[in-house]
Amino acid sequence: MDMPRLGFGTYGRTGPEGIAAILAALEVGYQHLDTAQTYDTEREVGEAVRRSGLSRDEVFVTTKVSEENLGEKQVIPSLERSLDALRLDHVDLALIHWPARKGGPAPEIYLRQIAEAKERGLARHIGVSNFTIALIEEARSILGDGAILTNQVELNPWFRNRKLADHCVARGMIVTCYEPLARGKVGADPVLRRIADERGATPEQVALAWELAQGYAAIPTSRNPDRIAQNLAAQEISLSSDELAEIDVLDRGIRSIDPAWGPDWD
Ligand SMILES: NC(=O)c1ccc[n+]([C@@H]2O[C@H](COP(=O)([O-])OP(=O)(O)OC[C@H]3O[C@@H](n4cnc5c(N)ncnc54)[C@H](OP(=O)(O)O)[C@@H]3O)[C@@H](O)[C@H]2O)c1
Repeated sequence: MDMPRLGFGTYGRTGPEGIAAILAALEVGYQHLDTAQTYDTEREVGEAVRRSGLSRDEVFVTTKVSEENLGEKQVIPSLERSLDALRLDHVDLALIHWPARKGGPAPEIYLRQIAEAKERGLARHIGVSNFTIALIEEARSILGDGAILTNQVELNPWFRNRKLADHCVARGMIVTCYEPLARGKVGADPVLRRIADERGATPEQVALAWELAQGYAAIPTSRNPDRIAQNLAAQEISLSSDELAEIDVLDRGIRSIDPAWGPDWD
């Protein structure tokens, strides 16, 4: 199965309510779930997949290796723990969640391990998240072209991240937008609201439709079944070139996730 471009994010979807939301997503038709070692939702994702009755090859499951598991001989054992939590024998995509902070392991150390995880069948695909252009180039020189399926990065109409996204696309990688709704805030944007009103849609759907129209993947989350369904239906919206152009200039350039230990952004 190729990576479905609209996935369901699971940050915050913990416990019985989290399982219910993930199950609602699967029942309404999502076929891609995004979890991470640090979200504490791997168990919930696995449980929801089992309760859904879907077969393993009908759901694309992504997890991410946390920054504390990037040292020598740490990546594969951490993925094995993820698989135990998920109760799966492989994930479809394993990502390096964040590049190691300065003074931490060099990219070569953890990238070679994640590539080995793929060779061993723990993950069908591998990728990265929060990688900059320089780190993408370093990863390409270590693993070669075509090894990295995606770079998962913050991207939405208010944070366009164009330079990095263009670079990833030029290198044949899928750009996956996290915070595709700017944590729900893009709904207040007057241009998105007007386009949504004209189309009988919601501004959040218009934001997602714009991301998908760029060829990106997006992984919105919600605890609310109606919004979960609404977000998936964004796939049915085909924006005109004029509408896309209007949304292209909404960038406010304000990054929301910017830890002090993070990389030197482009
Ligand atoms: N790789 C990384 O470093 C990284 C970082 C951040 C996030 N992520 C991934 O990206 C996923 C999505 O990011 P995110 O959860 O931070 O932000 P998001 O999906 O942009 O926004 C989620 C927020 O928007 C609200 N919302 C969702 N759909 C809505 C709709 N149709 N109308 C109105 N409000 C709506 C939700 O509230 P309700 O629940 O009340 O609907 C929730 O508060 C995460 O779950 C995670 O899987 C990855």
